[in-house]
Amino acid sequence: MADGATAAAGDPGFGLYVHWPFCLSKCPYCDFNSHVRDSIEQARWRAALLRELEHAAAGSAGHRITSIFFGGGTPSLMAPETAAAVIERAATLWRLDPEAEITLEANPTSAEAEAFRGFRAAGVNRLSLGVQALEDDALRALGRQHGAAEALAALRLARRVFPRVSFDLIYARPGQGLDAWRAELGRALEEAPDHLSVYQLTIEPGTAFHAAQRRGELVVPDEDRAAALFDATQEVLEVAGLPAYEVSNHARPGQASRHNLTYWRYGDYLGVGPGAHGRITRGGRKLATRRHRAPEAWLHLVETQGHGTREETVLDADLRLAEMVMMGLRLSEGIPRAGFLRELAAEPEEILDPARIASAVEAGYLELDAQALRATMAGRRRLDALIRHVLEGATLPAAASA
Ligand SMILES: C[S@@+](CC[C@H](N)C(=O)[O-])C[C@H]1O[C@@H](n2cnc3c(N)ncnc32)[C@H](O)[C@@H]1O
Ligand code: SF4
Repeated sequence: MADGATAAAGDPGFGLYVHWPFCLSKCPYCDFNSHVRDSIEQARWRAALLRELEHAAAGSAGHRITSIFFGGGTPSLMAPETAAAVIERAATLWRLDPEAEITLEANPTSAEAEAFRGFRAAGVNRLSLGVQALEDDALRALGRQHGAAEALAALRLARRVFPRVSFDLIYARPGQGLDAWRAELGRALEEAPDHLSVYQLTIEPGTAFHAAQRRGELVVPDEDRAAALFDATQEVLEVAGLPAYEVSNHARPGQASRHNLTYWRYGDYLGVGPGAHGRITRGGRKLATRRHRAPEAWLHLVETQGHGTREETVLDADLRLAEMVMMGLRLSEGIPRAGFLRELAAEPEEILDPARIASAVEAGYLELDAQALRATMAGRRRLDALIRHVLEGATLPAAASA
């Protein structure tokens, strides 16, 4: 089912992503573009973000922004004036939908009432809080600087200040049992969330957890246990009225993250700030943009040349197909036929190998009907393999190859 918030005419929306690359400490599992610094020149960073926004607007004027997302890193460490200035400038450079969803990611360690009220006054109307776990031992093992009580206090404060609040949990943690996880999810639900992001712990190369795993000091649940934990998550949250609308995201009807839906529906979005990615259709071509990742290098480039763009490439039809399938099959609503027509000027049957589609449908992993191509719950459990299967043997008709 499409989410009510953005279902209008299948319009995927147009988002603005703003990256804040700083954190108070580096978590041992995290490979996001996040860095610890002794001090940050807030005014300088604010000026640079505004400058890069101006540059981005030059190639995308006239759009109506349906969402803004301040991600990180820990954007709750940003001065609220910076969020205010970015939102204000965005509203002058583009048209800002009066109903725009404006999300800020926050870490419970930097959850101060005054700052939260400052972000709310700036126009932020949705907070996404990195709770991660509701057990102190688990939080310590994840290298978090906060305990469960602090996380819950931050959550309750957030709910008093922001109209919409979501929080993140991480599962498939070392030694995590099924019953304990079900109980923890139950406690999370007692907080009456409208939206929950529940991520399976991934051991990313280059992280401290990766090194510990290689030394044999960190053991995470095997594939079967992780799958059982995934299934338990789906079941508990579905019964509680927060079905998965995406592999890791659960919401009450109408409460899905509109910004993230724009990504998964393969809509256009701009990305500003270090390492930010964007997808923008210009002159009939879809471009992928990427900014310099290192914070100081990005800052220097913006100050000297007006933007920190590292790469801007045209996405050919093969890449557009691959990206749309990788994103869209994550969603329970799947990829609407209108999406194939918009991006590739063809129906899925004209592009995908019929034998492969039939075998995945037969196995219960995929559905293709008058509305959409979608992965079933069983398909979403083995999504990477399913995506490879669907993309293999695809052929693009001439109309799609532009
Ligand atoms: C970029 S972080 C921003 C939130 C904030 N910095 C915090 O940590 O509270 C977004 C989310 O990604 C998730 N995450 C980061 N690394 C992960 C990993 N290796 N495995 C699973 N989830 C991860 C966490 O749940 C985190 O809240
Ligand atoms: S998980 Fe969040 S707080 Fe921890 S390093 Fe990553 S972005 Fe920073």
